[in-house]
Amino acid sequence: MTSLHAWSNARIAGIAAPATLLVRGELIEWVGASADCPPSLRPDSTTDLGGTWMLPAFVDCHTHLVYGGSRLPEFVLRAQGASYAEIAQAGGGIVSTVRATRAMSEMALLAAALPRARALLAEGVTTLEIKSGYGLDLESERKMLRVARQLGDELGIDIRTSFLGAHALPPEFEGRADDYVDELCTLMLPTLAAEGLVDAVDAFCEHIAFTPGQVARVFETARELGLPVKLHAEQLSDRGGAELAARFGALSCEHLEYVSEAGIRAMAQAGTVAVLLPGAFYFLGETRKPPVAEFRRHGVPMAVATDLNPGSSPIASILTPLHMACTLFGLSPAEALDGVSVHGARALGLSDRGRLEAGALASFSLWSFDEPASLAYELGLHRPTQVMHRGRVVHS
Ligand code: NIG
Ligand code: FE
Repeated sequence: MTSLHAWSNARIAGIAAPATLLVRGELIEWVGASADCPPSLRPDSTTDLGGTWMLPAFVDCHTHLVYGGSRLPEFVLRAQGASYAEIAQAGGGIVSTVRATRAMSEMALLAAALPRARALLAEGVTTLEIKSGYGLDLESERKMLRVARQLGDELGIDIRTSFLGAHALPPEFEGRADDYVDELCTLMLPTLAAEGLVDAVDAFCEHIAFTPGQVARVFETARELGLPVKLHAEQLSDRGGAELAARFGALSCEHLEYVSEAGIRAMAQAGTVAVLLPGAFYFLGETRKPPVAEFRRHGVPMAVATDLNPGSSPIASILTPLHMACTLFGLSPAEALDGVSVHGARALGLSDRGRLEAGALASFSLWSFDEPASLAYELGLHRPTQVMHRGRVVHS
């Protein structure tokens, strides 16, 4: 049998200190107050943490971190007053990243993405969602998804891929959005799913992207393929995306600044997670906040993620949105911490992580702060001293 390792003298939220966490292989075998540790569980080895805090490893459940090029010129234009939607309509925005991403080799894309993923890992992220959607043709979407998978192998962390072919209309389909959706549903998605590159299916339901009818076709294809769905919904306007996604039992709806009461009710009923992306809200200078009080009232779980991407959230830090979820959206530190752990995991359909409990993955980070809420309070001060994933050190 695999040996049992004890992490003793730890501080863990909700457990009387000193706490002990026992790890066998990839999993937590037991966790609790050290005084309660059953004598039958005799560890083969022990690390004395000397009162160090232990948190579940973080889950960044919404990123677009595989991309080519830079949107710095657009950033400068925005500083002169152009809006995100205006830039997109003028042929910039997502489509300019598509051009750059298509032009890059798989190796070059991997090299560009690695530092972004490493930055997240250095803050304690060991489960990372990565969306495609800057390729928008079969070859280029495949290239992005393959790079996403390789990042996981390279860093020893878990990557969940979301196929986001319905992110923007590729230039070659100008004026023929329905034809593109056809190609996506009959060729791109089924092919990439068969290659094992797709864990979930996402879409961008917005006036600058796809209509609810087009998104529904993509979701029907996902359903036929047995893939879960999620949706960029109500980021810039209310399109009824949340209701649509809920009808398909979506894992999550993301952004949601403009979601309606009916949308929230539909999400609550379907058990759909609300993914809050304060980095994009901040970077785009949005003023309308997602209705956090309503999510609470209806019992919709709130995840918090980076949305790391070159256009609306060039933020390679999970601690920044964790902080902003509190300062900008009014989450409590405890809610924000759950948002980047247990609820982030749920937004990916994962129930085996994000919580330190017996049977969960041995994925956790060690910190020298006095209390975990410090992470939501002080920005730029804290880094984990060690990050473990599936029982192995992945960063120190
Ligand atoms: O989540 N909303 C659409 N997609 C991204 C932005 C991507 C981009 O601008 O490149 C987002 O904000
Ligand atoms: Fe996004």
